[in-house]
Amino acid sequence: MRRAKISIIGAGNVGATCAHWAAAKELGDVVLVDIPDKEGVAKGKALDLACCGPMERFDSNITGTSDYADAAGSDVVIVTAGLPRKPGMSRDDLIETNVKIVRSVSEKIAEHCPESIVILVSNPLDAMVYTAWKATGFPTNRIVGQAGCLDVARYRAFLAMKIGCSIEDISALLLGGHGDDMVPLPRFTSVHGIPVQQLLPESDITECVDRAKVGGGEIVKLMGTSAFYAPASGSVQMAEAIIKDKKRILPCAAYCEQEYGIGGYFVGVPCILGANGVEQVVEIKLDSEEKSLMDESISHVKDLVGIVTNMFPDLG
Ligand code: APR
Repeated sequence: MRRAKISIIGAGNVGATCAHWAAAKELGDVVLVDIPDKEGVAKGKALDLACCGPMERFDSNITGTSDYADAAGSDVVIVTAGLPRKPGMSRDDLIETNVKIVRSVSEKIAEHCPESIVILVSNPLDAMVYTAWKATGFPTNRIVGQAGCLDVARYRAFLAMKIGCSIEDISALLLGGHGDDMVPLPRFTSVHGIPVQQLLPESDITECVDRAKVGGGEIVKLMGTSAFYAPASGSVQMAEAIIKDKKRILPCAAYCEQEYGIGGYFVGVPCILGANGVEQVVEIKLDSEEKSLMDESISHVKDLVGIVTNMFPDLG
């Protein structure tokens, strides 16, 4: 059987950590791509990781490069290229620089990996997914953003800490954009089937929801740069669902036309992820409060895309 191939664009904190998880899970061969100035970093991290194989028992080939031709034939490409946040910055502050980077990266992906499924991680995520869609010209099922897996993982982690139970038993759902107006859904949150409202008072649930919304910012304040372990873990969870054709239902930034009345934008929604990328957007019935939070989040995503198309009219 042919091994899958995963290329990761950007060999910085998120990219290298994606390579680490992907190799540890033996998802396939891994190529770390960075700019020519950082080719040594990409090669060095790849070599360092490859030397973990005998101890961690994975057979993936891991290579570093600045030549996109080495990414040819990739099944999945994870895009982490771009600036991370510094303290005091919102994700939206990165937009101009990261659109330029993600656009040029996307053009290279279209040229060298025309059959790949692309997972975007660079921020502001909702604008980057749109940019990659326009710049690759790929069908919408092959462009998807990582945000929901991370956001819902943070929400689940905070709930587990609060309840004092295993993280494994917490099942939760989250919608909307990857910003402070993301929409965690306590009504769809359960602990081994028990509705979370039967285990925690409303105030504790709200505290976990609020902490999940600003969880990225909390880490930026502590470290001086943005998180990377959990964003990488979320990206590799998605890559695994695609490579193994698992048909997992995961919250992802996916293209929605009629769904949720979104009208042609990439927004965080539950999706079935499999060998064809986003195979289905799953629509759930929202109550009026959830719907109004979702509408607010969608309108922020539309504003972000508006900023992109104002700055770069040819991406419109
Ligand atoms: N092609 C390939 N790599 C690039 C390009 C490009 N055109 N432009 C920049 N890069 C690389 C940088 O050289 C750097 O190695 O992207 C890498 C980014 O790494 P870090 O600075 O460590 O940033 P990181 O923490 O990994 O975050 C990357 O992911 O979660 C998001 O908000 C985060 O937008 C940020 C992105």
